[in-house]
Amino acid sequence: MLEHDVLVVGAGLAGMRAALAAHQSGANVAIISKVHPVRSHSNAAQGGINAALTDRGDNWEDHAFDTIKGSDYLGDQDAIEYMCTEAGPELIDLEHMGVIFNRDDEGRLGTRAFGGQQRARTFFVADFTGQAILHVLYEQLMKADVRVYEEWFVLELIVEEGECCGVIAMEIATGSVFVIRAKSVILCTGGLGRLFEPSTNALIVTGDGIALAYQVGAPVMDMEMVQYHPTTLKGSGVLITEGARGEGAHLLNKDGERFMQRYAPNMMELASRDVVSRSEQTEIDEGRGIDGCVLLDCRHLGEDLIAERLSQILEIGMDFAGVDIRKEPIPIQPGMHYIMGGIKTDMDGRTIVPGLYAAGECANVSVHGGNRLGANSLLDTVVFGHRSGRHAADWANGKAYRDLNVDDYVDGKEKEFSDLFSRQTDERWSQIRLDLGKAMDRYMGVYRDEEGMQSLLAMLPGFRERFAQASLQDKGRVFNTDLIFTLELGFMLDCAESIVLGGIERKESRGAHSRTDYPNRDDENWLKHVLVTRTDDGPEVSQLPVTITKWQPEERKY
Ligand code: FUM
Repeated sequence: MLEHDVLVVGAGLAGMRAALAAHQSGANVAIISKVHPVRSHSNAAQGGINAALTDRGDNWEDHAFDTIKGSDYLGDQDAIEYMCTEAGPELIDLEHMGVIFNRDDEGRLGTRAFGGQQRARTFFVADFTGQAILHVLYEQLMKADVRVYEEWFVLELIVEEGECCGVIAMEIATGSVFVIRAKSVILCTGGLGRLFEPSTNALIVTGDGIALAYQVGAPVMDMEMVQYHPTTLKGSGVLITEGARGEGAHLLNKDGERFMQRYAPNMMELASRDVVSRSEQTEIDEGRGIDGCVLLDCRHLGEDLIAERLSQILEIGMDFAGVDIRKEPIPIQPGMHYIMGGIKTDMDGRTIVPGLYAAGECANVSVHGGNRLGANSLLDTVVFGHRSGRHAADWANGKAYRDLNVDDYVDGKEKEFSDLFSRQTDERWSQIRLDLGKAMDRYMGVYRDEEGMQSLLAMLPGFRERFAQASLQDKGRVFNTDLIFTLELGFMLDCAESIVLGGIERKESRGAHSRTDYPNRDDENWLKHVLVTRTDDGPEVSQLPVTITKWQPEERKY
């Protein structure tokens, strides 16, 4: 029998930090991941990680205020206070583990400016910060001898008598199905970016953990809050880091105008992401774009700075757009990047299901609210990964493993697989996924309205019917990516449902949820979280108050 006190699903930054914390708390911990850990999507995080270090006159209260304002006052302020006070110690821990952050001229840890913040507090490793941290955390896990079920795919959470007590999973290399017993399970599976087409996210980012939790009745919260990053490459959606604007790059329209002066005269290109993306979209919609894009101009930054701090986007520009950013502006557009919403958790990472925890992008502890600040996501992963790992280990401590009827679970999955393998239709996951992604981008993009969201809601049963017909071309069990992509599509459909329902429910514009039919923020009626919970009678939508500690909502200007 495979069994662990704590089983962490996902091996990105949140998952590795959680596993390390659970291990340090004395738990027998394992990670299960559908890819090799250093292929996790945290690898793609470019710009940096925020922390307010007092040795340079910064303080956690300013960081918290910027985060709250950035969230359009939807973030829970107690969680934000915790994240911002823990940021310094977490950053220093990472440095001591071996992350080689860039240094300033005096040899101290260097910072760059990021959007929506009063001062430069983003610590970075060139423009591959996530990759640098991921590798160092992986070294720590290997040192601690934490078991990793590498290239294993979680099919379902096991919940008995209301408690989460393990997972049903498939070893991808063989296609065999197993039960792994656990006293607590922490979901750290990242976001759901590929539900949108295009997206900055890797192909593996398909909302697995969010859907797994939703399927067992854990509420998801504020799923309508979908972040469109202001600088993604046209067509492919590849990320061009906000670090470029942090280093001083300009946004230009077709007339060569720095148009942000009309939308955010103080912060210009470094206003918060929702504001910059909306401004770009308005320029494009009103005919001042170029072929659906605006331009990011890095030329004046100079070759040395680009080589030292933006080397990855120099390569991306050449490889994916044929543009040398040292010599010409690069066409960019707002593109899907991040989900602020996720599985509702408390600050210890607990979901409503005892024994089930979540951290990182798949979770919503509510530190990002309606709009996440750039470089607060890496911070969220390590701070709440750490805390949830500790608490999941405490929960497991002294608990007995539940007696599970393993054969029943395995046979049930085998039966589902044999139905799936026996289908003979022309319907393929790839076309459904593309159609769904385009529909999500069209109706849940930078601007939304009731009519569009209702039409998307009406399309979902059709997508589900097509999914129920989808048949596999690969009928084997060994490393069957056709099967994996199909299973992921099922997760994506669950996520889509909660996003659209959340969007229709929230009748105001706040953060990334920008409704043309309700253009204003409405604190009187909507200073609230929107929750979607799957029940036997279908999805139920409800609301919860936002936690305010000391920052009352104000008009948001940049
Ligand atoms: O633009 C970026 O480098 C992205 C950072 C983030 O999403 O935090």
